[in-house]
Amino acid sequence: MYSSSLLVASVALMLLHLCLGEKAGFERNADTWNLCEQIILKMGYPCQNYTVTTEDGFLLGVYRMPYGFNENLPEKSWSRPPVFLQHGLLQGGDNWVLNNPEESLAYILADAGFDVWLGNIRGTRWSHGHVSLHPQDKDYWDWGLDELAGYDLPAMLEFVYKSTARKLLYVGHSQGTIIGFAAFTQDRVGEFVAAAAMLSPITYLDHINCAFCNVASHYYVERMMKTIGVHEFNLRNEIGVELVDRVCSSPKVDCENLLASITGANCCFNSTRIPFYMQYEPHSTSLKNLAHLAQMVRKGTFEMYDYGKLGNILHYYRLSPPAYDLFKIPQSMPIWLAWGGNDALADPVDVAHTMAELPSKPELVYVEDYGHIDFVLSTRAKSDVYDSLIAFFRAHLGKMHADI
Ligand SMILES: *[C@@H]1O[C@H](CO)[C@@H](O)[C@H](O)[C@H]1NC(C)=O
Ligand SMILES: *[C@@H]1O[C@H](CO)[C@@H](O)[C@H](O)[C@H]1NC(C)=O
Repeated sequence: MYSSSLLVASVALMLLHLCLGEKAGFERNADTWNLCEQIILKMGYPCQNYTVTTEDGFLLGVYRMPYGFNENLPEKSWSRPPVFLQHGLLQGGDNWVLNNPEESLAYILADAGFDVWLGNIRGTRWSHGHVSLHPQDKDYWDWGLDELAGYDLPAMLEFVYKSTARKLLYVGHSQGTIIGFAAFTQDRVGEFVAAAAMLSPITYLDHINCAFCNVASHYYVERMMKTIGVHEFNLRNEIGVELVDRVCSSPKVDCENLLASITGANCCFNSTRIPFYMQYEPHSTSLKNLAHLAQMVRKGTFEMYDYGKLGNILHYYRLSPPAYDLFKIPQSMPIWLAWGGNDALADPVDVAHTMAELPSKPELVYVEDYGHIDFVLSTRAKSDVYDSLIAFFRAHLGKMHADI
């Protein structure tokens, strides 16, 4: 699965190819890449930054907007319900604050009385590296969805839970829904979450309507992984460029409008803002993470990384990888799903498959003309989607008591 940022990324890539003729690189520097300072404080919103260390040593950047524009921290700061936003593939916490404040989910939630926390997974520009590994080390990139769901999300959610002494409200987009669903099947993690809102929900990917993703998944991604081994994947470096070049040379893929051919046609994306988005996106991920997504596309399963029979025995003591069992998500956790009629990545058949396996019946919002990227960047998302999301959360504020 290639999330909406890939679209932005591909535009970036073309500009890099056509205009600059050079490969841009970014310094990984915690001081330069502080989401508060780069975007949120400039918009006049309060912002605090935290570093959360995962069990396997990654230093994740978690950013908080404790109250809204022109407000003061209320005396009872705990009266604001915490909401945690988890971005998608090749994106970072910035994707919730990239549009105008009246259009972007993080600002809207802060102004609606929520205590807003922005998660950032390992490898993104807003996170801060690792206690001992360096991004130049291969091992720094030896991870995929299982580590995101098994280490990053539990560490960040526990941090917010303990900091606020309340259960939290979860919002995921795209890969943020995959790792959310996978993490909630773990007893401990499900306990931190009072209710979950999933934008472009994904667990099964075998019906994706994206030729680029299908060709990449069937022919290239795992082959690259076998040849190169664990490695950073960034659309701004050679490996990213090579993958796009190879996939686009297939007659099955029309790369003329790469953005739409991957995410589906997005109705309401503000194209005059692309230069601004490109200052921050796309973020890096690992080739192994893409390889895991490619397996999901090919196999139609929602399970852990497949190392092959021998590798699986070494990793899992069994021939096939263990499945993520959606039935294990706490039945008491209310779930809300928003999906779009033009979303090439969260296909109706796959969304129905997810719904059928959830232990409780989710609330649904369907937006006919939305593509994958519209759920975070549509200029109309507030009235199309976010007002309903906020109403869903408000209906479940009674469930936020934490047993700490
Ligand atoms: C917050 O950001 C500042 C400036 O980038 C940095 O010096 C500080 O170490 C960060 N604090 C944490 C807890 O990450
Ligand atoms: C689109 O982006 C431009 C440039 O940032 C901005 O001035 C304009 O307000 C945006 N339009 C909408 C409808 O948000």
